[in-house]
Amino acid sequence: MSNTIGKMFKITNWGESHGKAIGVVIDGCPSLLNLNEKDIQLDLDRRRPGQSSLTTQRNESDEVEILSGVFEGKTTGAPISLIIKNSDAESKDYDNLKDVFRPGHSDMTLHQKFGIRDHRGGGRSSARITAGNVAAGAIAKRLLRELANVEIVGFVKQIKDVIAEVNLDSVQVNQFTQENIDGSLVRCPDKKAAAEMKITIEKAKAENDSVGGIITCIIKNVPVGLGEPIFDKLEADLAKAMMSINATKGFEMGSGFNSVLMKGSEHNDEIIIVNEKNVLDGKIQTKTNNAGGVLGGISNGMPLIFNVAFKPTSTIGKEQKTIDMNQNVVELEAKGRHDPCVLPRAVPIVEAMAALVLCDHLLRHRAQSIFLNKGNKENKGNKENNGGNHEN
Ligand SMILES: Cc1cc2nc3c(=O)[nH]c(=O)nc-3n(C[C@H](O)[C@H](O)[C@H](O)COP(=O)(O)O)c2cc1C
Repeated sequence: MSNTIGKMFKITNWGESHGKAIGVVIDGCPSLLNLNEKDIQLDLDRRRPGQSSLTTQRNESDEVEILSGVFEGKTTGAPISLIIKNSDAESKDYDNLKDVFRPGHSDMTLHQKFGIRDHRGGGRSSARITAGNVAAGAIAKRLLRELANVEIVGFVKQIKDVIAEVNLDSVQVNQFTQENIDGSLVRCPDKKAAAEMKITIEKAKAENDSVGGIITCIIKNVPVGLGEPIFDKLEADLAKAMMSINATKGFEMGSGFNSVLMKGSEHNDEIIIVNEKNVLDGKIQTKTNNAGGVLGGISNGMPLIFNVAFKPTSTIGKEQKTIDMNQNVVELEAKGRHDPCVLPRAVPIVEAMAALVLCDHLLRHRAQSIFLNKGNKENKGNKENNGGNHEN
């Protein structure tokens, strides 16, 4: 079973939507990191259900409790165990889904694979279980900030056919901050598009239907050297983490699928050394960032930029044909409280999964690079030579 992700910064997620509680165990967090519940709660509040009229009306406070691994406000190096109680589960709403397979959801495949499933609120397949990942991600974000000043910002770029106008040029990425994105109900920085997105979601909700979209994630101040050349390429690990999020349908790094429209001469990012007159003194950079901050699986010091596509929520009130467990064709009008669009709540989930991957690779790179920059002046591409944004 695969409930664990990460090698050095490793998390194990547990729980079901309508069980007693959900949670996560984090193993590999270095000792002496300042940490309390409040630091974690901020991100949980951004993911929480019931936060606006555009999300599910299930109203969970999602209060996190630290059970272990923290003593007198500091991590001890022991496993950190976090618990979040389920308090607003209305399981009876799911009675009509006990014997029926919702089209587009996991009911049928879970039944076929395991022969048993907790149907209440989607059970283990519910996006509720991502709360544990967001809690762990908050710790990873904190570590990344302390160790390398890494900042992760996600936003909604597209809902159905409404696309935000944003400039992702390297000099422009600093304009994207959590504060200005969270100020928007749909978490979109383009105000005009945000208003249209809201209308699109409300229309889908009124029609007992749902809509999907795209989240863009930007990671600033990424040190050079994170990631591996083969199986654990940074973009491969990011793709896996993103595609583990419920309802995701696509992942693209940098120019992504648009790269097929470009010639090599257009797509190659010109390598430059920004001179003293410029803001970033003496650093190796690229003029453009089609790579999305990763070359050969390894971060190149440019901002990481990637997109994640989410499908329209599968549980809808609109009548649909499906089958029950006895293979009878039935009509289904799903009940229960559901997100008409998962995107606004998925932003902190994308950020958290990105933080977990980066934190894991940052710790791994630190272990791998202990002899780098130690008097080896001939080693081209190290900190002394390139002045790059290296984390050592
Ligand atoms: C933040 C978030 C909220 C979600 N809310 C719902 C929901 O209310 N109803 C629903 O059917 N699916 C919801 N989903 C999606 C399902 O969890 C997901 O479609 C289901 O587990 C099947 O997995 P798959 O779509 O990845 O194949 C949500 C996903 C996310 C990321």
